[in-house]
Amino acid sequence: MTDPVAPGPPAAWHLHAGRCVLLDGFHALKHALRFGAEVPVAVTSDRAGALALADELAPDVRGELAGLLTEVSREAYASVVARPHPTAVAALAVRPSRAAGLDTLAHTPRRAPVVVLDQPRNLGNAGAVIRLAAGFGATGVVTTGTLDPWHPTVVRGGAGLHFATVVERLEVAGLPPGPVFALDPEGEDIRGLKLPDDALLAFGSERSGLSPELRARADHLVALPMRPQVSSYNLATSVAMTLFHWSATGGAPRVP
Ligand SMILES: C[S@@+](CC[C@H](N)C(=O)[O-])C[C@H]1O[C@@H](n2cnc3c(N)ncnc32)[C@H](O)[C@@H]1O
Repeated sequence: MTDPVAPGPPAAWHLHAGRCVLLDGFHALKHALRFGAEVPVAVTSDRAGALALADELAPDVRGELAGLLTEVSREAYASVVARPHPTAVAALAVRPSRAAGLDTLAHTPRRAPVVVLDQPRNLGNAGAVIRLAAGFGATGVVTTGTLDPWHPTVVRGGAGLHFATVVERLEVAGLPPGPVFALDPEGEDIRGLKLPDDALLAFGSERSGLSPELRARADHLVALPMRPQVSSYNLATSVAMTLFHWSATGGAPRVP
């Protein structure tokens, strides 16, 4: 006999919802588990489908997923997400402690740069940058300004990879130590530079570029190659090129 499908979300969902972030979909949950997130509750309206995905794509966390996933009705699943995800999986994860994140950011010597997004506006860009930072093994992503880097839309864009790097919001005056390489089309061509592992790689906002405060803190202005008449690149693609340059000039550890 199979277990009956719960008509509503489990009580644990309501208990943890206030202090946790939503992981929307199988891949976000898979990444969060891989990088050590504390996940008190996870639901799906298709447990067999989710475990088949785990067999295929994530055998390393299949056991944890099998222990965590509670099957609920389609309506119960839909009631806890803004928009149903094709994998019909949702989970709650405890946000890592700010104090621990700030310690990691301040720790020196640093083995990989910190990405600084100066007053970003676009939640999707912020999520994409967190995903990049996780992929390149950056120490963290710091935002200045009003955007919350743990906003549900940013977490969705980050595909659960907020747990693979430090993600915090700070004032420019409170940025961690290290030389600031600020990306700006008027800067020195990046192709002639080696970016040090302890660098803060700073990027301006989509609308107005680097703020006066960030410019005042910058040690170097760095430009990405761009032909005349093109004004600028998208923020997340600028971060991608810069992290790639850091990795290609000796920064990131090689994947075996
Ligand atoms: C969309 S751009 C900002 C455009 C904005 N209108 C401006 O006045 O700078 C967002 C950020 O991406 C980075 N960026 C974009 N293109 C770049 C380039 N060619 N060289 C260096 N940084 C660039 C900069 O940090 C910039 O502040």
